[in-house]
Amino acid sequence: MGVVIKSAEEIAAMREAGRIVAMVLQTLAGVVRPGIKTRELDVACVRELAKHGAESSFLHYHGYPAHICTSVNDEVVHGIPGDRVLREGDIVSIDVGVKFKGFQGDAAITVGVGQISPEARRLIEVTEGALHAGIAAAKQDLRLGEISAAVQQYVEANGFSVVREYTGHGIGREMHEDPQIPNFGDRSEGPVLRRGMTLAIEPMVNAGVWKTRVRDDQWTVVTADGSLSAHFEHTIAVTNGRAEILTLV
Ligand code: MF3
Ligand code: CO
Repeated sequence: MGVVIKSAEEIAAMREAGRIVAMVLQTLAGVVRPGIKTRELDVACVRELAKHGAESSFLHYHGYPAHICTSVNDEVVHGIPGDRVLREGDIVSIDVGVKFKGFQGDAAITVGVGQISPEARRLIEVTEGALHAGIAAAKQDLRLGEISAAVQQYVEANGFSVVREYTGHGIGREMHEDPQIPNFGDRSEGPVLRRGMTLAIEPMVNAGVWKTRVRDDQWTVVTADGSLSAHFEHTIAVTNGRAEILTLV
């Protein structure tokens, strides 16, 4: 799928999809507590999506078996909700994608389960900060590489590493459109950003090395060294000023 420039009407439709994503994430964050199974987050998502008349973008995507991704501790992304019980001190990344009236929204947050360690708290804060550094760098007429460089710089200045094998992406009628958005690289790289581009920026940040591997379930991405990982994502629209975040309540 090539780069698609959206009209004001199309961005308005994406705002609606994005708002649903944000509301679902807010609900799911409220469900997280020690003792629940990750499946309960998936069930809560199904209930929320039904309320809004929206569909999960993830279910059956390349055979993906759930409505959301729940990635715990050393799991980076694409964790499958199931029987795993969340324990006090865990961190869980929740990734939600919805389709509503033909348009997609995609966002992720990482939350602590009960009391978490200062290191885990700092990883979460740095990852969210990196997302906002990337969004602040997304400006019309500048190159996409500005986003990548801003994220990498922010993360590495804080002593963590950015995952390199997975990227953000363009988004619109399809969940994944061009361009890919690496979370590392040089500011002079990539295509020039144009007004009407809609992008999912999603830093995945590891406390240890950036390398990852995929578990035998063929989905769950984990850090190669077993270190903690966090993930934040927003869908944004490039405008003539500051990028607009579409995945807000
Ligand atoms: N938000 C992720 C992405 O942008 C999740 C998609 S994985 C899926 O790629 F297979 F579950 F859909
Ligand atoms: Co995404």
